[in-house]
Amino acid sequence: MNYTVVLPAAGSGKRMKADKNKLLLELFGKPIFLYTLDVFQQDPNCDAIWLAVKEQEQELIEDYVKRYNLTKVQGYATGGVERQDSVRACLEVIPPCGVVLVHDAARPFIDQKVIAQLAETAQQSGAAIAAVPVKDTIKKAENGVITETVDRNQLWMIQTPQAFRYSLILEAARIAHKDGFMGTDEAMLVERLNQPVAIVESTYENIKMTTPDDLIYGKAILESRLQ
Ligand code: C5P
Repeated sequence: MNYTVVLPAAGSGKRMKADKNKLLLELFGKPIFLYTLDVFQQDPNCDAIWLAVKEQEQELIEDYVKRYNLTKVQGYATGGVERQDSVRACLEVIPPCGVVLVHDAARPFIDQKVIAQLAETAQQSGAAIAAVPVKDTIKKAENGVITETVDRNQLWMIQTPQAFRYSLILEAARIAHKDGFMGTDEAMLVERLNQPVAIVESTYENIKMTTPDDLIYGKAILESRLQ
């Protein structure tokens, strides 16, 4: 199933303790976001890539895109204060299409098989998101004392990509904006319209480069892939 991908890339480096956008940090001499772009450039089912970027970083990112010959990059939107604003800005500028994938530019290790399954499922049922089963025991606590141990068999750690029919995610993003609703992922915007969201099991390697230790994991993943 063919798709268009929207990559929010307009964040900062705060939790990474970096003085610039963490996506510009390098792993083995190449900025993180280029690894993510490569995955989609190389996927035959990916028709187009759109990026949400900070205005002041667009020129730099465009230069990289040209230098690495990332021909599927079709355009840019100016990112917003929150990630959700950045995604919406992109959704508002992409040409109408069948299926849209929203994927954090900060997740460079996404598996192509997972992408294919997400696009297929979204086309059939409207919305599908990548997730992995929770590994640890999860408990709720109040004032530092456990109140409940949650049944982890029902719990998933949610990642991106999140795939949707274009019309559904655009409508959901517009309604959330009108309502002043801020979610922590795109699926929440669709869930509040009472639309079903399917889970596609992903891999634990699909980490989001967030804190400095993720750079260590990231390098280890890249090294293991070279073997
Ligand atoms: O900060 P966090 O890692 O959760 O951001 C996830 C993704 O969203 C990153 O790729 C980041 O660049 C992007 N983002 C964005 N606009 C924001 C905040 C984050 O495009 N305002």
